[in-house]
Amino acid sequence: RQAVLKISTGSKELDKLIGGGIQTMSITEAFGEFRTGKTQLSHTLCVTCQMPVEEGGANSKVALIDTENTFRPDRLRAIATRFNMDPEEVLNNVLYAKAFNTDQQLDLITALAAKFSEEPGAYRLIIIDSIINLFRTDFSGRGELGERQQKLNTMMSRLMKVAEEFNVAIFITNQMMSDPSGGLTFVADPKKPVGGHVLAHASTTRLYLRKGRDNQRVAKLYDSPDMPEAEATYAITEGGIDD
Ligand code: GTP
Ligand code: MG
Repeated sequence: RQAVLKISTGSKELDKLIGGGIQTMSITEAFGEFRTGKTQLSHTLCVTCQMPVEEGGANSKVALIDTENTFRPDRLRAIATRFNMDPEEVLNNVLYAKAFNTDQQLDLITALAAKFSEEPGAYRLIIIDSIINLFRTDFSGRGELGERQQKLNTMMSRLMKVAEEFNVAIFITNQMMSDPSGGLTFVADPKKPVGGHVLAHASTTRLYLRKGRDNQRVAKLYDSPDMPEAEATYAITEGGIDD
C-alpha cells in the first residue's frame, strides 16, 4: 500500500488543523458563504501540490474541474510567484476542464481515471470547485431531490475510488443552504452545507469556512468523528491562502 501524502493549504495554521495538509486517498470538503476563500484555496492547492514533498507538496500535477467558471490563471501566476516557482510551468501542470452539467462532471471523473492510469503517479490531486453547483441547477425541482442525491452519491463513490486507486487527494468545495446562486433550494437551515447525508458521509474531512476581519477567514472542522472541533485562522492574500 502506498504512503499517504499531505498537501499544504498555504497556511500553516490551517494545515495543522487538518493534520498536516489535505491528504491523498481521502476527500476534503470546504464549504462556507461566498468570499470565504473556497476558490482561493482551490487555486493555492493547484500550486502547492506541485512543490517537493519536503516542502509540503506532492511533486505532482493537478486536475481541476470548474463548475462555477471562477478559475483564473492569473491568480495561479501570482501564487506561483509567492513560492518562487515559474508561473508558466505551474500552469502547464494544471489539467483544467469546465463542466456545464452533472453528466459532464461525472464523465470528467471517469476520463481522469483513464488519464491517471496512463500516467501513473503524475497526479496527486483532483479539485472540483464546486461539487454542488450543477446539481442545484440540474435538479432544481422539489420532486428531484432524491434523484439528485442518488447521482451525487454515484459521483462521490467514483471520486473515492479514484482517490484510493491512484493515491490522489480529492478537494471539493460546497455551498451553504443560504447561497441561492445554484438555483432553487428549500432553506431548511441556512448555516448548513448543501448535499445532506450523501456529502456528510462521503467527505472524510469537512471544513466550515467563515469570514473574519479584513482578509482573515476562519476554518472549523465540521462533524469530524475523530478530531476535536478546533478552528484555524488564515488569510487570503495576493499570494493565495496564507497565515
Ligand atoms: P463563492 O465561490 O462566491 O462562494 O466564494 P469563495 O468562497 O470561492 O471565495 P473566493 O475564494 O473567491 O474568495 C474571494 C475573496 O478573496 C474576496 O474577498 C477577494 O477579495 C479575495 N481575493 C481574491 N484575490 C485576491 C488577491 O489577489 N489579494 C487579496 N488580498 N485578496 C484576494
Ligand atoms: Mg468560489
